[in-house]
Amino acid sequence: MRILSGVQPSGKLHIGNYFGAIRQFVELQHKGHGLYFIADLHALTTIRDAETMRALNFDVALNFLALGLDPAKATLFKQSDVPEVSELQWILSTVTPMGLLERAHSYKDKTARGISADHGLFAYPVLMAADILIYHSDLVPVGKDQKQHLEIARDIAVKFNTVYCKDFDPHTGEGGVLKLPKPHTMDETAVVPGTDGEKMSKSYGNTIDLFAPEKETRKRIMSVKTDSTPLEAAKNPDTCNVFALLKLFAPPAELAEIRAQYEKGGVGYGDFKKRLADYFFDTFGTARKRYDELCNNQDYVYEVLAKGAAQAREIASELMDDVRRVTGLR
Ligand code: ADP
Ligand code: TRP
Repeated sequence: MRILSGVQPSGKLHIGNYFGAIRQFVELQHKGHGLYFIADLHALTTIRDAETMRALNFDVALNFLALGLDPAKATLFKQSDVPEVSELQWILSTVTPMGLLERAHSYKDKTARGISADHGLFAYPVLMAADILIYHSDLVPVGKDQKQHLEIARDIAVKFNTVYCKDFDPHTGEGGVLKLPKPHTMDETAVVPGTDGEKMSKSYGNTIDLFAPEKETRKRIMSVKTDSTPLEAAKNPDTCNVFALLKLFAPPAELAEIRAQYEKGGVGYGDFKKRLADYFFDTFGTARKRYDELCNNQDYVYEVLAKGAAQAREIASELMDDVRRVTGLR
């Protein structure tokens, strides 16, 4: 089974990204052949500074490796290192109805907010379809926000197969050059709240980053917003941001004990936050150590990316041979 997913290098990764996505990628590497890529071509729609792009690309690779992606099991590579993807994108765009793209949330939301869209943003789902289809992916783990893009990828694959493969059966998906991918909606680890209680997101400046210096991380955790219930009073764990974050880390028995402390009173929010910080460093201690080691061993990271790109290109080239044949380009 081939598992594929991509992460845009649009900023430093935070615990929302970890619990919502990366942790599941790392677990899935044991269930089949995982192909994970850094979606730098997609990120060009927002990052327009070369140094920033290079630094963030490298950082995402570091993050994956530090968090347990094993390059002996899974393939890690940069999207732009497989130029065949851009070729397939063009070919797919010639069978993609305009209406399909006009209905895409990524495009509709921006234009509705008055942001003028460029062609890259409009064509974003076609590039994503090329990413998925070029590797014959069986399973594509994505968050809820990406589900529509996956449906578009399926629609484009059906359209291409219908036009070019006479034996294609849209009901079974058999007989086409492009394999129809299955979405794998990741566990809805309820949305991880940020320090202000809103959804944790790079764009809201409310993140707890995975690999920031310890002092800064503790400060961020101590800044999580709480209400003004006094120390001695009973507190409601189910409306508390600190408790919502503790839930991600604490084993069930310890969580039950923390819940009891909330409900009984006598423990202040400061203490709960300190406990959260301890869990954070226990959970990510090994990954953070590995991150520092990898920072001092950059050649290794580049080597992993180069090997990953070569493996990915091999798979992509095979598919492109078929695509060029059925379209008459070759
Ligand atoms: P951001 O909102 O910080 O820009 P992205 O949109 O790049 O994050 O998300 C990358 C992945 O991490 C997606 O699969 C998304 O579902 C997941 N993710 C991001 N923020 C959260 C969150 N607060 N809670 C759960 N999952 C999240
Ligand atoms: N669009 C995805 C995101 O923003 C990243 C991505 C690009 C992707 N190509 C993909 C995810 C292919 C899964 C499969 O999160």
